[in-house]
Amino acid sequence: MALVYSGMTSPDVELPFEPFKIKVVERLPNPTVRQREAALERAGFNLFNLRSEEVRIDLLTDSGTGAMSDRQWAAMMLGDESYAGSRNFAHFEAKVHDITGFPHIIPAHQGRAAEHLLFSTLCHAGQIVPNNMHFDTTQAHVEHAGGTPVNLAVAEAYDAVSNFPFKGNIDTAALERLLVVEGKERIPLVMVTITNNTGGGQPVSLANFTEVARVAHAHGVPVYLDMCRWAENAFFVREREVGMGSRSIAEIGRAFFDLADGATMSAKKDGLVNIGGFVAVRDASLAERLKEALILFEGFPTYGGLARRDLEAMTVGLEEAMDLEYLAHRIGQVRYLGALLDQRGVPFLHPVGGHAIYLDVDRFLPDLKDADLPGQALAVELYREGGIRSVEVGSIMFPGGSQSQRPLELVRLAIPRRVYSASHLAFVADVVGRVYERRSKISGLRMTYRPERLPHFTARYTPARTNG
Ligand code: F0G
Repeated sequence: MALVYSGMTSPDVELPFEPFKIKVVERLPNPTVRQREAALERAGFNLFNLRSEEVRIDLLTDSGTGAMSDRQWAAMMLGDESYAGSRNFAHFEAKVHDITGFPHIIPAHQGRAAEHLLFSTLCHAGQIVPNNMHFDTTQAHVEHAGGTPVNLAVAEAYDAVSNFPFKGNIDTAALERLLVVEGKERIPLVMVTITNNTGGGQPVSLANFTEVARVAHAHGVPVYLDMCRWAENAFFVREREVGMGSRSIAEIGRAFFDLADGATMSAKKDGLVNIGGFVAVRDASLAERLKEALILFEGFPTYGGLARRDLEAMTVGLEEAMDLEYLAHRIGQVRYLGALLDQRGVPFLHPVGGHAIYLDVDRFLPDLKDADLPGQALAVELYREGGIRSVEVGSIMFPGGSQSQRPLELVRLAIPRRVYSASHLAFVADVVGRVYERRSKISGLRMTYRPERLPHFTARYTPARTNG
């Protein structure tokens, strides 16, 4: 495997400065080519089926894969594991209240558990839930409740080369039309995902969210934020939106929350923990109903499916996620990888988003047909070439139907928080560059097993000899 990373010496690329030093290290696995080939066969060419020791650099997800700080590990030792009334819950509740202003804070073990609570309580059969773009689990939970998810992101979100600064924005005219036609009887809530993960980790502007809230509230429909990456969203708003440059991440975040009726959170992202999440709402009677569901599915309201030490680590992590030095490094890493890929001519979604680079499969593998599953084929090649694990975000993860437009065909290289160094990212750029050079020889795949729900997690594939 290559040990020289050409990108490291480039004078035009800004190295992201790590605002931390390293206290504990974990050896990186180094599977051989033969081991990687065997692993692909065994995994049915689905990278979710790989063992972690078969992966050199793991960019499958930025969720729950980050490194906790020394302060977070110290907080774990302060766990008060009482079933009810743990002081860790009091700390956690105060922190989330401080950040969001929502009075009712309901812990859950991760984001989809929060989604389950919210949608099973608010959404009923035959109803419609608009979002800028649903994430896979959000979409699945709306459908599980009998509802129909509708994506209303602006047109720029579907244009991989546009440099529009807020591609996470909702098309508010389309939202208004939907609200006029369907009314609040059929639309139990509007959700806005910050940043828009499915559409490339792209931010939503405060101006757009203000308009979304105005339109929805005018129709009597509540507005919820999927706030998994709220701090990253606030970083972009601070950088790009007029009048925001001198405001803190906490202030910008709060400006969003003040317009909303509630939020769901996977703290595995901007909570900087390996497990955790919550729902936070304004309405007291809704909070009571959510807590009833919580007790049924997750646990008592002062732990919500988590160890109390997890709540304490989350309390610290939520605060650290708003630190500007941390965020500059975080977004700087994604931009660094993007700059190195640009130097190699590799096509990816622009502008660079908050937590990942999204390779643009339509331009990377233009000769493969939709039936060749080109996104999955590309993810497999990145693993074959350099042991890099990524994930398809395209026609397999989002198999048409509820989407209003053909989804972009993307392969996501998600960067875990505080885990990999700049040289690791330079290595990734070299591997992707090598795959890009031999792109005309890459064959497609066929699905041999398709599960009914969330197919990307457990589907199996076999190579189709369509090319070279
Ligand atoms: N909402 C968004 C926008 C997400 O990105 C995720 C998870 C969830 C909800 C669900 O949270 O995993 O804690 O249950 N995204 C991960 C990812 C899995 O890889 O993007 P969860």
